[in-house]
Amino acid sequence: AAGDPTSRPLAGKTLLVTSGPTHEPIDPVRYIANRSSGKQGHAIAAAAAAAGAAVTLISGPVTLADPPGVTVVHVESARDMLAAAEAALPVDAAVFAAAVADWRVATAGAQKIKKGAAGTPQLALVENPDILKTIATRTPGRPRLVVGFAAETENVLANARDKLARKGCDWIVANDVSADSGIAGGVMGGDRNSVHLVTTDGVDSWPVQSKDAVARALVARIAAALKDPA
Ligand code: CTP
Ligand code: CA
Repeated sequence: AAGDPTSRPLAGKTLLVTSGPTHEPIDPVRYIANRSSGKQGHAIAAAAAAAGAAVTLISGPVTLADPPGVTVVHVESARDMLAAAEAALPVDAAVFAAAVADWRVATAGAQKIKKGAAGTPQLALVENPDILKTIATRTPGRPRLVVGFAAETENVLANARDKLARKGCDWIVANDVSADSGIAGGVMGGDRNSVHLVTTDGVDSWPVQSKDAVARALVARIAAALKDPA
């Protein structure tokens, strides 16, 4: 029932979720982006809202509908995503599922770059802000629980442990996005996911399941973590 704390274990809690890719403009008609459908991040936002949380979902460009019962902020670039994430604080927990472009073009063209005259454009790139690390290392304003993702194509657990330490987050949800991950059709864009929950206490490897089931399992773990006294 709606008032039953076991069915709404995140009632009274606030959550921030990032999802989807970012688009970094080259000129008004071209961009650099990562592969990301947004399915896993959107599923987490939906599951958290269903569990009773007040959820702000900061979404890069995706073809998915806004999940019901979620406040959705639509952004394009990594810098816009960071600004929206900071504006959503304070929150009890933050989940960074977005596939943020690591680099942007140093100076995006104000006009469409034309073929011809200037030859092949040479794009100078600069590093984007790390949204997860920025929020995880804030004082004050750090959410009580900060969860990152690590989509890896090799050395999944070693890379995830490294990211956990480097970014200052509490948990990393690591997944293997290589073609030989064992998931037919692949994880990216697909509906199934095989994840490992990496914390300072160790690693929980979950069975291959739907992205919706991964989302529900993660939300249950978040609810349990937020229930413990700080
Ligand atoms: N992330 C972020 N902002 C960035 C880059 C990454 O918030 N500019 C977040 C992602 O949303 C994810 C986590 O950091 O939760 C790990 O992202 P990943 O791309 O795996 O890590 P990087 O530190 O960028 O390392 P690399 O791409 O070199 O593996
Ligand atoms: Ca990256």
